[in-house]
Amino acid sequence: MGTASYCPENIVLVGFMGSGKSTVGRAVAKKSGRYFLDADALIESMQGRAISAIFEDSGEEYFRNLERESAEWMAECVKGTVISTGGGMPMVTKRIREIGKVVYLKLSFDEIAGRIPPDERVKRPLFKDMQKAREIYKRREKIYERVADFTVDASKPPEAVADEIISLLE
Ligand code: S3P
Repeated sequence: MGTASYCPENIVLVGFMGSGKSTVGRAVAKKSGRYFLDADALIESMQGRAISAIFEDSGEEYFRNLERESAEWMAECVKGTVISTGGGMPMVTKRIREIGKVVYLKLSFDEIAGRIPPDERVKRPLFKDMQKAREIYKRREKIYERVADFTVDASKPPEAVADEIISLLE
């Protein structure tokens, strides 16, 4: 197998917490013959602790530095992979478009809030306060749009979103 087909361009999924990046990412990986990498899980595995514990024990700024470093590492070292990013990654690095084709999974804040059950919110540090989460969403919307090569409607079932992404990239 030649390098080009073995190492296709990365696909980088961005969007707010709960927009389905990991579920859609896994489906896109399977359908397109790429590996799948969850950028939050990557940080957790290197730190040996959960994101919520990193926020609690070391603070948000510490987490954002780890996120920036992981983005740089992905830009340099990862190929042939679908990457689901943490919702804040486009805000912490200028290099997101160097990682691969960036796809924004767009969903309204109310749809997102409806998808995250209360017991799940504790695992997401920025979602503990709904009003704050809405403000963060508003600020980030434009940034997601700006960094994306493509924007897709993420309110559809994950398989349909994955099919749309693949057809957009063909
Ligand atoms: C964050 C989103 C989370 C995680 C961290 C911060 C954010 O990832 O990186 O809690 O700033 O939006 P998901 O988008 O995968 O939930």
